[in-house]
Amino acid sequence: MDVDLSNITLRPFRLSDLDDFMGWNTFTSKEESLNYIKDVCIPHPWRRSIYLDDRSIGFISVKSASGDDYCRADIGYAVAFEYWGKGIATAALKMAVSGVFKDMPGLVRLQALVDIDNKASQRVLEKVGFLKEGVLRKYCLLKGRIRDLVIYSFLCTDSILDSKSILMFPFVF
Ligand SMILES: CC(C)(COP(=O)(O)OP(=O)(O)OC[C@H]1O[C@@H](n2cnc3c(N)ncnc32)[C@H](O)[C@@H]1OP(=O)(O)O)[C@@H](O)C(=O)NCCC(=O)NCCS
Repeated sequence: MDVDLSNITLRPFRLSDLDDFMGWNTFTSKEESLNYIKDVCIPHPWRRSIYLDDRSIGFISVKSASGDDYCRADIGYAVAFEYWGKGIATAALKMAVSGVFKDMPGLVRLQALVDIDNKASQRVLEKVGFLKEGVLRKYCLLKGRIRDLVIYSFLCTDSILDSKSILMFPFVF
């Protein structure tokens, strides 16, 4: 299946995303999915649905650190399995990165923590222009195992890479 990446958009979740959402989430019941969209996705300060041709096929979420650490936020994302390997996460992440620094005043650092074996996610971050800072050894419990995580960051002064790894535009504040 070919995907036209110019048809990828990011938008807040809607209740009408329910059927699409059930296609790529782990929830088994309609009620559970609806409650999650209503109670978690919609009120979230910065969670966007990734749309392809008006169908929800994933999400990107940004969570600010609390208190004095508002300069920093964590980013997480997922794309429905059937769409993997088509550049969708990379395209969506580029949109999210450029949007989030405008939407969150005071945000200076966006960071992502990735399981050491999740090479696809690490590659996505590198294609966008995130800097690999290092490995957090035995950092957290994931699926029942204590895992090493790779930490990446993108600062508001960094530049998003284009597909040929040429600088596209710097953020100026
Ligand atoms: C990680 C994820 C978001 C990637 O989405 P995607 O739309 O397939 O990503 P893209 O197509 O933009 O890019 C994937 C890149 O990873 C590469 N890749 C995939 N599997 C790989 C592997 N095992 N080793 C090395 N590179 C790999 C692809 O080749 C591609 O790079 P390329 O363009 O240089 O060829 C998707 O796999 C996903 O939703 N995974 C489950 C949730 C998750 O892990 N989220 C991230 C948590 S930090």
